[in-house]
Amino acid sequence: LTQFAELLVDHTPTNEELSHLFSRAWGEKIEGDFGPILSRSLIHVCARSGTRLVGFVNVATDGGIHGFVLDTCVDPDFRRRGIASAMVRKATEGARERGAQWLHVDFEPHLEGFYRSLGFAPTAAGLIRLSP
Ligand SMILES: CC(C)(COP(=O)(O)OP(=O)(O)OC[C@H]1O[C@@H](n2cnc3c(N)ncnc32)[C@H](O)[C@@H]1OP(=O)(O)O)[C@@H](O)C(=O)NCCC(=O)NCCS
Repeated sequence: LTQFAELLVDHTPTNEELSHLFSRAWGEKIEGDFGPILSRSLIHVCARSGTRLVGFVNVATDGGIHGFVLDTCVDPDFRRRGIASAMVRKATEGARERGAQWLHVDFEPHLEGFYRSLGFAPTAAGLIRLSP
């Protein structure tokens, strides 16, 4: 529980809720069926303010010792209140408890301070966009 939102572990929001949050967070229309993604998740954390979904983070897994932080987002109306930090901390603790030994993330340069403050050490990484 943060001061501004309640954190829920492995709570599955509806597709409509996630589409709405993702679209607001990334500023473009994002829709999909997130059920298959969440069913493979090692842990995911939602933030709710009352009934409103205001934050989300997912940790995907290789089924072994690696977890991958994906889709960290907070509704623009709820930013800079520590919600994303609290969600990532909870996801990190949960991933450790569930057997992950390494937690990976990649991010845009402006979020370096955000992820460093959460304990992510620098590493070189690579990325290919596979679709246009
Ligand atoms: C990135 C994001 C999840 C941060 O959510 P948030 O709840 O506002 O983050 P927090 O309040 O926990 O931030 C903690 C600290 O991280 C840093 N930080 C957070 N957002 C930042 C930003 N956009 N730029 C630079 N630093 C940032 C700040 O140091 C902040 O502390 P401060 O508010 O005291 O300055 C949110 O801005 C978002 O949804 N962005 C769009 C989606 C996105 O790019 N996700 C990242 C995927 S890797």
